[in-house]
Amino acid sequence: MTEDHRHPAAEAFDAIGAGYETAFAGSAAHRDSLERLLEGLAPHSRILDVGSGTGRPAARTLAAAGHEVLGVDVSPVMVELASQRVPEASFRCADIREFPLEEESFDAVCVYFSLLQMPRDEQRVLVHRLAGALRPGGLLVLATVPLDVEGVSAVFMGQEVRVTSFGPEAFRALVSGAGLTVVHEVGTVFTPSCPGAVPEPHLFLHCRR
Ligand SMILES: C[S@@+](CC[C@H](N)C(=O)[O-])C[C@H]1O[C@@H](n2cnc3c(N)ncnc32)[C@H](O)[C@@H]1O
Repeated sequence: MTEDHRHPAAEAFDAIGAGYETAFAGSAAHRDSLERLLEGLAPHSRILDVGSGTGRPAARTLAAAGHEVLGVDVSPVMVELASQRVPEASFRCADIREFPLEEESFDAVCVYFSLLQMPRDEQRVLVHRLAGALRPGGLLVLATVPLDVEGVSAVFMGQEVRVTSFGPEAFRALVSGAGLTVVHEVGTVFTPSCPGAVPEPHLFLHCRR
């Protein structure tokens, strides 16, 4: 990818870098979601972490429990940070929409807040592909900011971003449309620990193929 064609999410998250981890480290719901995912995994499961960020908390928690973790993130800075922080996992720098995924090749896939810079139809297509990459019975954990917004400009941690998401019902419909069953759901409100932050709704869906 040349500088002229850089993905907007890569630009924003390259600039945000390690500050993201600090700002969101206090999320008890994120930690609980990872604990729940761990409870549902057989030893040495193969897990895909979509938009793996700094590798913490997700990749590190899962790899520390003995699972084989592959993180994919479009931001080179995030991939570098994650590789340093979680050397026992593997990380690739790529746009997940273009990343080849073998059918039924993962026991679990987690997507913590990494859909928000994609148009709605691309979020739908991606969730379908991720469901197909799960072995039957596998788990997909999706976390998002459940707001009915499309291409809305916002400043996130000092970076101008465009945010697209779904309200809770539409997001659940997207998941069931991909052939997944929601087995657990948590909705909460979290305020990141950074200047200018405001409370944001967070929705965690644990789904089974
Ligand atoms: C809000 S951060 C969340 C990071 C991590 N999942 C967490 O919850 O701590 C979103 C991450 O997804 C990545 N991302 C956004 N769009 C992506 C895409 N199309 N392909 C791969 N990664 C993407 C960003 O670079 C960023 O690191």
